[in-house]
This record gives sequence, structure tokens and C-alpha cells, in this order.
Amino acid sequence: MERTFLMVKPDGVRRKLVGEIIRRMEQKGFTLEAARMLVISRELAEKHYIEHWGKPFFEELVNFICSGPVVAMIWKGHDAIALTRRMVGHRDPHQALPGTIRGDYAALKTENLVHAADSPEAAAREIALFFNEASP
Ligand code: CDP
Ligand code: MG
Repeated sequence: MERTFLMVKPDGVRRKLVGEIIRRMEQKGFTLEAARMLVISRELAEKHYIEHWGKPFFEELVNFICSGPVVAMIWKGHDAIALTRRMVGHRDPHQALPGTIRGDYAALKTENLVHAADSPEAAAREIALFFNEASP
């Protein structure tokens, strides 16, 4: 059993896809362990996306992720980290396959509905960031 961090981004909340994303994760067999809705502060956004600091899209990404409420979640299941990434699909809308969340619902490179941890280290870090020390 593994825990992963999955977040519905502001576009997913605006487009009312929270239920659809949770449905897909439950249907896969994963268990929702915790969830919280919050508007991310700039400070939390910069911590969360620290690996992208200084990249050309960083400002746009931080502004976007702070632009409305998100739903942050902890999901539990067998190989949950890698399998959730597969269900989310590729970041590039031209490469995100149909059947994935992004492939089925997203066409833009920044507004792509979901974030999912990409390693055990990232999952632990992001869970701590959003569920231990984050303030809305
Ligand atoms: O989200 P994921 O881990 O699949 O992709 P990433 O490469 O870690 O990038 C993080 C996020 O930055 C993406 O999900 C996009 O929202 C955004 N991004 C962007 O706006 N423009 C890019 N050229 C690359 C990423
Ligand atoms: Mg990433």
C-alpha cells in the first residue's frame, strides 16, 4: 500500500470536474484518505512548485494555481503513485492519451486540471506541505 498526493487544480474546480476525478480514482480501487479545499497562498505555491522555480512558465503557473480553490487529496492504494500518474496523463496536451484525465478533459498546457506526485519523495513532501503545515 502506498499513499499519493493528488490535487484538483482551480480549472478542475471551476469546470466542476472534482466529482469525475474522485469517481475515476475510486473506480480504480484507490481509497480516499483525506481531502481539503483551499485557496493556495503564493508562499505555498512557490514551495509546492519549487522544482520549477526560474523556468519561463513559473510565474504563470503560480498565478494560475492561486487563482481559485483547489481540492488537495491523499489517496491510498497499491502502487498508487505511479498508477495515479498514468491516470492523470501527460503534461503536454498533444501527448496526453484519451482515457487519461488530461487526455479526456484538458487541452491547455498550464490549465491541465490535476497535479499528482511523481515519486515517493514528492508524495511525502506534498502531503506534509498540504496536510501538516499549510494554512489556507
Ligand atoms: O504536472 P506534471 O508533473 O505532469 O508536469 P510538470 O512538468 O511537473 O509541470 C508542472 C505544471 O507546470 C504542469 O502541470 C503545468 O500546469 C505547468 N507547465 C506549464 O504551464 N508550461 C510548461 N511548459 C510546463 C509545465
Ligand atoms: Mg511535476
